Amino acid sequence: MGVLARRARHLAVLLLVSLVSLPALASAQAPSAAELARGKYIFGATGGCGCHTVPKQPVNAGGRRYDGPYGTVYSSNITPDRETGIGGWTDEQIITATRLGRRPNGERLIPVHPYTVFNGMSADDLKALVAFLRSVPPVKQAKQPKKISVPMFESVFLPAWLAAFAPRESPPTSAPTSGVARGEYLVRAVAHCGECHTPRTMTMATDNTRFLAGNPKGPEESEVPNITPDKTTGLQWSEEEIADYLGSGNKPDGDVAGGLMGEVIEGTLAGYKDLTKADRLAIAQYLKTILPIKNKIGK
Ligand code: HEC
Repeated sequence: MGVLARRARHLAVLLLVSLVSLPALASAQAPSAAELARGKYIFGATGGCGCHTVPKQPVNAGGRRYDGPYGTVYSSNITPDRETGIGGWTDEQIITATRLGRRPNGERLIPVHPYTVFNGMSADDLKALVAFLRSVPPVKQAKQPKKISVPMFESVFLPAWLAAFAPRESPPTSAPTSGVARGEYLVRAVAHCGECHTPRTMTMATDNTRFLAGNPKGPEESEVPNITPDKTTGLQWSEEEIADYLGSGNKPDGDVAGGLMGEVIEGTLAGYKDLTKADRLAIAQYLKTILPIKNKIGK
């Protein structure tokens, strides 16, 4: 082969290599600061994914215990540790677990992780959230095995229950950016207010015909108030007061948010308190539009 031919072949190979590897390099590139900030904001809007953090322990490392009628589960390690966390998963796999409740091996998540709610998140918000999760320090901590006490719970009961009873949010083409629609999106699909504030039916599915009407025996045995605009048993605060509460935990009567509500407001690396005033007001505006339901919680 002549020198020229060899050089031409060399060039062709170089060209090919760069064509193949450039897109790969681009996709492995670190997310932009704006993408990370958006992800952190969404993370805060969920209440800081707080179920995945045992208070005062490493953020997102999991291990928090949840008891249900089916048995006991522990939250997963969602730090980017490759062995015990989600560091070895692709973005798509993390998104599928978050919104559809499926692990890469096809296994179903117990819906303590509110995937029927997070299914309503926009694709862009989920992508940004995943980028943010990858930026949190990895923690090596193996997940404690769950103890399911109901026979065939995961193979038979859970799929049937999901199909028949569990209300599922549907994803918007893009996240609404302002007004009541924004408030509705945050409440229903991101902040998952209904997981605690909506009463449950006999099957333990949230009863969305009584959306946010309170739960005398909510998660972790909390008494969760009715926040529908019902005149006698619901929330009577002004929009401004609701927005202030979500930002600070301060109630109009001088009391402060306690228990689980205090946790989601404070969050972990971010929480409801980090929502913009506009978003907190949008949530308050939306709460004024939902069906008032008479349901007395507490004395
Ligand atoms: C993890 C469970 C949980 C989530 C999620 C949650 N809340 Fe709460 N919320 C509670 C509990 C528990 C209380 C009672 C707090 C207390 O006793 O101080 C409460 C109290 C409140 C109150 C005070 C009502 C009153 O009459 O004192 C408001 C308003 C409220 N929540 C709004 C919301 C909104 C809006 C969202 C979603 C953006 C939300 N909550 C998400 C558990 C939750």
